[in-house]
Amino acid sequence: PPLGNILNLYDFERLASKILTNQAWAYYSSGADDEITYRENHNAYHRIFFKPHILVDVEHVNLKTTMLGETTEVPFYVSATALCKLGNPEGGEVDIAKGCGTTKYSVPQMISTLASCSLDEVAEAKVNDKQLQWFQLYVNSDRKITRDLIKHAEDLGLKAIFVTVDAPSLGNREKDQKIKFTTQSTGGPKILQKKEEQKKENNSDGASKALSKFIDPSLSWEDIAKMRKLTKLPIVIKGVQRAEDAVRAAQMGCQGVVLSNHGGRQLDFSRAPIEVLAETMPILKHHGLDKNFDVFVDGGIRRGTDILKALCLGATGVGLGRPFLYANSCYGQQGVAHAIDIITKELEMSMRLLGVSKIEDLNPGFLDLTSLHSRSVAVA
Ligand code: FNR
Repeated sequence: PPLGNILNLYDFERLASKILTNQAWAYYSSGADDEITYRENHNAYHRIFFKPHILVDVEHVNLKTTMLGETTEVPFYVSATALCKLGNPEGGEVDIAKGCGTTKYSVPQMISTLASCSLDEVAEAKVNDKQLQWFQLYVNSDRKITRDLIKHAEDLGLKAIFVTVDAPSLGNREKDQKIKFTTQSTGGPKILQKKEEQKKENNSDGASKALSKFIDPSLSWEDIAKMRKLTKLPIVIKGVQRAEDAVRAAQMGCQGVVLSNHGGRQLDFSRAPIEVLAETMPILKHHGLDKNFDVFVDGGIRRGTDILKALCLGATGVGLGRPFLYANSCYGQQGVAHAIDIITKELEMSMRLLGVSKIEDLNPGFLDLTSLHSRSVAVA
């Protein structure tokens, strides 16, 4: 269908479910075990309601904010997803970079360690100078590989390192495991293709299992402390699921955290990040750590109102994963740009209707959180 028929982010998902290869759909869409957390991530947003202000001048709505010390034109970013060529064999992450730079407002892009394109290719694909790119780091057992990756990201002008810590082993994604994956499959991770011996590697348990070999399960807080000394770039811990860990990251000198359960792909029955955010912000504040420390949230964000709720609760910005994968897989660069336009317009409109004209005016007073903690979980 023409791109104009795509009215919201769900439309991309519906289309993707029809036209992607079985392998790409299984890898992209799957969550862990019974996918309780996968669904809860979005469902939790349904338990928060708004308390709008009326008669506020909202003629001009400004989405500008600051992430990790850099000005950004919108308070959301494209989160790191591995293997973007599985769904878009020609363009992969390069098309995402182009899409992020060709909209009215440039959108930051977090690039996965396990991207199908090389970091150089994605960095080169940037369309304008305002466009931010960040590096998502999976730490390898061979710390030299990790040091080299950080150095390389710095050299390419990437602006932050997001260390993913919620995947000491990759989650149990059964849809994905039913499909045979080889690192030679279209769209396999560039970084693994470099090693001659791994080229021959076969894995009969899906894409996720094939990737997990890259990630060191012994990673601990001591490694984070060491990493702090390796780079001047901001370090953000991605995959925090409780307030104490956000406090610890802040005390250790990290510049931020991403409250995330990896889009419901890791530990099933992890809580929704929006719920963790509501718990975390007051505790950070109590410790005097809420200033100059960025708290990001991802998982299940599909609407402008979802973003607005996270911002009201104190998030610096939010990440979206699957929606951009689907947009990129269905329409390439234009799809990514269209997805950005959709979510930007939704956010602007919702802010207007909430009675707010700029991001810094958002606060928890705009929300009714009465139902947030009343989860009802039904197995599908
Ligand atoms: C991911 N995610 C992820 N995270 C990460 O740090 N490194 C990675 O390589 C990947 N790869 C990846 C692949 C696929 C197919 C998905 C769906 C997700 C997690 C991602 O960054 C983000 O946390 C979630 O996608 C957010 O949830 P939504 O927006 O997909 O619901």
